[in-house]
Amino acid sequence: MYIVQIASECAPVIKAGGLGDVVYGLSRELEARGHSIEIILPKYNNMRYDHIWGLHDAYQDLCVPWYGDRIHCSVFCGWVHGRLCFFIEPHSEDFYFDRGTYYGCDDDPLRFAFFSKAALEFLLKSNKRPDVIHCHDWQTGLVPVMLYEMYQHHGMEHQRVLYTIHNFKHQGFAGTEILWATGLNREAYYFHYDRLRDNFNPFSLNFMKGGIVYANHVNTVSPHHAWEAMHEDCSFGLGHTLHLKGFKFSGILNGIDPKIWNPETDDHIPSPYSSATFEDKTLNQKALREKLLLRVCDKPIVAFIGRLDDQKGMHLVHHAMYHALNRGAQFVLLGSATDRQTNDWFWHEKHFLNDNPDIHLELSFNEELAHLIYAGANMMVVPSKFEPCGLTQLISLRYGTVPVVRGVGGLVSTVFDWDYDNEHPREERTGFVFYDTDQYAMESALNRAIDLYYNEPQLFQQLALQGMQYDYSWKNSGEEYIAIYDRIRHR
Ligand code: GLC
Repeated sequence: MYIVQIASECAPVIKAGGLGDVVYGLSRELEARGHSIEIILPKYNNMRYDHIWGLHDAYQDLCVPWYGDRIHCSVFCGWVHGRLCFFIEPHSEDFYFDRGTYYGCDDDPLRFAFFSKAALEFLLKSNKRPDVIHCHDWQTGLVPVMLYEMYQHHGMEHQRVLYTIHNFKHQGFAGTEILWATGLNREAYYFHYDRLRDNFNPFSLNFMKGGIVYANHVNTVSPHHAWEAMHEDCSFGLGHTLHLKGFKFSGILNGIDPKIWNPETDDHIPSPYSSATFEDKTLNQKALREKLLLRVCDKPIVAFIGRLDDQKGMHLVHHAMYHALNRGAQFVLLGSATDRQTNDWFWHEKHFLNDNPDIHLELSFNEELAHLIYAGANMMVVPSKFEPCGLTQLISLRYGTVPVVRGVGGLVSTVFDWDYDNEHPREERTGFVFYDTDQYAMESALNRAIDLYYNEPQLFQQLALQGMQYDYSWKNSGEEYIAIYDRIRHR
């Protein structure tokens, strides 16, 4: 099949979060299975150009209709670690993608509505007719809307869309100017509750809702989160829409890229290991202590890696730091804050704990250190408020680092509690799970982990090894995506 991905990120050239990893990892898997994949992205001025090979001008004169006028764009083409990517560069005084940042501008809805329109216009004008267009998150929610309402009448009647939602929290809200800009001119029609009108704010259009209404199939990134989004209050106001469209909604678990995340071949860690040489993990632990100037001792290392963002359960992360120290463990945190307040809070903690030899807070994004922490830590806390999939626990399992997680979203689909899981026998269990959002719930799960480490080290090791047995590469999920593409494609 010929599949075109339209997305706002693709790792490592454009990466703000897990979305970038998924777009890259899934594309690689699909290509390895013999499908033809192309990726359309914005040409941001701050992306990592050093990860693009052979960047060249591929299409000179793309004129994208916009606000009754047109914006002239160039399309560049290059390879990002083997994947063929097209980058759209508009030439206009709005400088939509020359902001030094991917997201966070006041006109984000306009920027990405333009990108969605430009991507479709590029497909149309360059005569690309993929079997399936796969688009992602709110930024590309208008792609299926415009495909169905406009582009199918201009020669794209055979194209079908899969829309993947990585995060329901960000949906893309805008007023009628978006309709004028994109040429979706019938205001009363599009502003209807059956189409783009937000379910709760009657003055707002909702891009993600449009994506759900118009796509041929919609999925989120784990089976449990798909269930939560429909049945619990996890879809930030889109529950009703998902109910109406439940017949075309499902959940597919993300994978991790085994080329990047494999303790047997990882270049970033001093002592590669497998389950057969698991004792070498302690050499990485030693290296981690040396690197972060932690005291050499027999304590377990508890870690947190991730964005310091409300979604990730900041008050519980903060509590886990102190609780781990109190319970005789060391703690390592790697992450950067997405807002000023959290940043100040964690910098304050960092200064306060500066002389404590059992804890290190690294307040930045550092890929290389992340590898060493996954390899050197014994436990990983993931106390998210909500988590569509979560990649941290998948990587931790691969590295034999026992996850201690809150039972939400993808964490439920991947971590099975050592003491209490009903569905998996003991030899298939992989971590510790708690459910409530208060500190006592997390304390009890972390206590169980630390107690097992100290009191029954053999069993703790067995648990870590059990996690390593699971295959969370893209193999299975790639197959599921292909089954959906195949189901929706025009025959
Ligand atoms: C978002 C979600 C995360 C998911 C990632 C990739 O960042 O918050 O749970 O793993 O997207 O799909």
